[in-house]
Amino acid sequence: MEILKLVLVAAHFLGMAAIVGSFFVQMRRKSDFVLTPLLVGAITQVVTGLALVGLAEATGDDLIYAKIGVKLTIAVVVLVAAILAVVTQRKGGRVQPWFHAAGGLAVINVLVAVFWG
Ligand code: HEM
Repeated sequence: MEILKLVLVAAHFLGMAAIVGSFFVQMRRKSDFVLTPLLVGAITQVVTGLALVGLAEATGDDLIYAKIGVKLTIAVVVLVAAILAVVTQRKGGRVQPWFHAAGGLAVINVLVAVFWG
């Protein structure tokens, strides 16, 4: 169980790095965004986050559920924005607002994760 938790935490950090890293590198762009790290990272965060919650429930670890609720809500919006960025890019539309929504909200989720509790 402890190993599984460490693997999930590592994947959770890598997912965060994929979103926030690709956001910082491309935040001044107007077009030609590379969106795969954003999308894969957003999926990773929801999947590993929920798995961490499930594991905490199973092992009796305490969680702040209000914080988890806020993080899940923000993470779902990040994922939707990442999907809309990909769809918009395929249609040749303006990707920038979706890219910034996903990246900016992921940064806010880091602050929620670290400063709340
Ligand atoms: C963009 C999305 C997300 C980002 C950037 C993010 C970021 C982080 C960070 C930086 C940590 C380590 C904080 C620490 O240990 O003090 C963390 C831990 C954790 N995250 Fe996330 N997270 C995201 C989404 C989620 C989601 C959707 C869930 C669950 C539904 C979740 C559940 C957890 C849990 C259970 C922990 C470990 C326990 C805790 O400190 O609360 N995360 N997350």
